[in-house]
Amino acid sequence: MHKNSQAWLFLKPYGEGYKDMSEFKKVCQLSDLINNSGVAALIENQQIALFYVENKVFALSNYDPIGQANVMSRGMVGDLKGELMVASPLQKQHYNLNTGVCMDDEAISIPTFETKIENQSVWVKL
Ligand code: FES
Repeated sequence: MHKNSQAWLFLKPYGEGYKDMSEFKKVCQLSDLINNSGVAALIENQQIALFYVENKVFALSNYDPIGQANVMSRGMVGDLKGELMVASPLQKQHYNLNTGVCMDDEAISIPTFETKIENQSVWVKL
């Protein structure tokens, strides 16, 4: 289950010279992630919260727009009303892992990023 100790991945830019800002970047190995928990990754100076749930990887900004701190990777993941979600560790708002939309207030959302898993490597489209 959820651990309070924080796992961090410090990533060097992978490969040379990204030109397209919205391209997939190889972030880590699947084995670097923690099942049903979050890991924070620093990808080109952007803090991303990665969640490995139900054999899928979800990537959200690590920034909690309500608590105004980079904490989302510490949030507990679970299922609410049939949706996979992460609860902010600060004020406990629930955010849909697929869409980033706050389940209490749809006007608030956290940016999400597309992910893919290839040969046990995790890729995020930034
Ligand atoms: S606090 Fe319950 S749905 Fe967000």
